[in-house]
Amino acid sequence: MSFAGTVIQWQRERGRHGLPWQGSRDPYRVWLSEIMLQQTQVATVIPYYVRFLSRFPTLKSLAEASQEEVMPYWAGLGYYARARNLHRCAKVVLDDWHGLFPENANDIASLPGIGPSTANAIAAFCYNARQPILDGNVKRVFCRYYAIEGDTQKKAVENRLWDVAWQHLEGATDNIDMAAYTQGLMDLGATVCTRGKPACGVCPLADECVARIEGRQAQLPTARLRKSVPQRQVCVLILEHEDRILMYRRADKGIWGGLLTLPEFADRQACSSYVQHSLGESVTAMPLAAFEHVFTHFRLHIEPMLVHAKAMPALMPAAGDSTDHTSRWQWVELGALAESALPAPLKTLLTGYFDAETGVASDTPRLF
Ligand code: ADE
Repeated sequence: MSFAGTVIQWQRERGRHGLPWQGSRDPYRVWLSEIMLQQTQVATVIPYYVRFLSRFPTLKSLAEASQEEVMPYWAGLGYYARARNLHRCAKVVLDDWHGLFPENANDIASLPGIGPSTANAIAAFCYNARQPILDGNVKRVFCRYYAIEGDTQKKAVENRLWDVAWQHLEGATDNIDMAAYTQGLMDLGATVCTRGKPACGVCPLADECVARIEGRQAQLPTARLRKSVPQRQVCVLILEHEDRILMYRRADKGIWGGLLTLPEFADRQACSSYVQHSLGESVTAMPLAAFEHVFTHFRLHIEPMLVHAKAMPALMPAAGDSTDHTSRWQWVELGALAESALPAPLKTLLTGYFDAETGVASDTPRLF
């Protein structure tokens, strides 16, 4: 059987079925799922996907919403540029494509936030287009199957992988169920040809897989040389006043772009000095336990300080980024924190702290 035939048969018998985005050829739904699934596991995505679609059931409803309305539905998923591009893309499709997603993979790839592999996945799932995908999981399958060495992010290696991805489709003369093939490759990479312990015993490609035959699964794909990630630190202030806390909407670009964050200071000392100057000698900031959050390019050491303020601050604290528009500051009700566009670590910090303080049970149903 051909490579594609083997993958399709395996997908039908052993692949993942019943995921909420499967069975739909609506490009809006497929596109949304593919963007959410970038760098994010299926189990994490499912509740976000369902919630997002119930609030924005059509591309038009998304395009017509403001970014502030969209961000709470992404808050906690990470990689927030995805949400900003998604929103931008919906507007472009509405304005430039009469609200209809383009069908051609090259046209799809011209839209904001959609790379070639995602564009091909959308074209394959929705229009049965013979376009290959090459996400991280699929790269691993091909690297092992053909024993392709080298850093998969290097252009030459990537080109080689695209070549083999195309070969499986271009050679075939029979009909290929592109949705099953595409899903099958993704499923193999995610559930069988895993990075740590590939399950070669149940892999339909094992007989021809060079890495398996030569026992080189652990060496392929070639490990990338990792630079050590720098550490940064920040002190965040939880300034509570009459059951509300002071928050700041960050600029669109950069870390946590478009999300709400707490006032930031270089360290606890700078935070304490702000508190003394703007709230008076009698108020002290209480340090809470520090924790770390890991971003792609650095680790952030976060030191929270808590203040119950009887009066409003005389001066606004430092902003979380270089832009400082007064309108970006807002007081958020404690009860509204769970539905606000907060990054996951701050949401955990705040809801954890205030739930414990007010005795709200942690299994209380919440939006996030
Ligand atoms: N990862 C990327 N796209 C996916 C999909 N359609 N199903 C499961 N995992 C995926």
